[in-house]
Amino acid sequence: MKALLVLFALLPLGFAYYKLESAIDPIKMLYNYTGVGAISLLLLSLVPSTCKRVCGQNLLRYRKTIGLLAFAYTLLHVSVFIVLDSEFDFITIFEKSLKKPFIYIGAIAFIILLFMALTSFKKLFAKLSKYHKAVYLALALALLHSFWAQKVAGVFEYSVVAVGVVLLVERIFHLKNNLLYNAP
Ligand code: HEM
Repeated sequence: MKALLVLFALLPLGFAYYKLESAIDPIKMLYNYTGVGAISLLLLSLVPSTCKRVCGQNLLRYRKTIGLLAFAYTLLHVSVFIVLDSEFDFITIFEKSLKKPFIYIGAIAFIILLFMALTSFKKLFAKLSKYHKAVYLALALALLHSFWAQKVAGVFEYSVVAVGVVLLVERIFHLKNNLLYNAP
């Protein structure tokens, strides 16, 4: 099942590869596929815990795989910036970042996701899992970065905000109920 999930998640990359030659702006297209892929998978990684509470369905075993896939997309997205768009030229990277401050927001989201990916393995996860709630912050920053980069918000961004808010509100209600029931 996990292999199927990985295959399904990687499909957009196969499609991007297929469309690369005919694309008017291949680099922009790669930014789009990898960025949208990362945000969609990040959002999907929040679903298993909500699903467990709301429908009693335990999909938690897939959460780490989805999270790591989101990170893989983010890594590809950042590689498009460093390797293809800036050709490893650190002066260009610096100049572009100065001109486009939305890159800093993306970089903060990237650092959060890097931390989560590195600490998603057994021993470290047991110690640091409480910090993984920062996924909500990473998602919000990634969305802000995407809005800012494109200067217009489309159906995708509004859908992510709507689903993200629903998932967050459910989590807040769950926490509030827990506090009420466990109050001394
Ligand atoms: C160091 C980190 C990052 C860098 C340097 C970076 C760089 C960029 C750049 C340069 C663009 C504009 C592309 C254009 O010209 O249209 C962009 C757009 C975008 N980025 Fe990032 N990004 C980073 C992190 C992230 C992260 C963490 C996410 C998601 C989890 C993300 C998602 C997106 C999305 C969805 C877009 C809009 C793509 C489109 O539809 O055109 N980025 N990014």
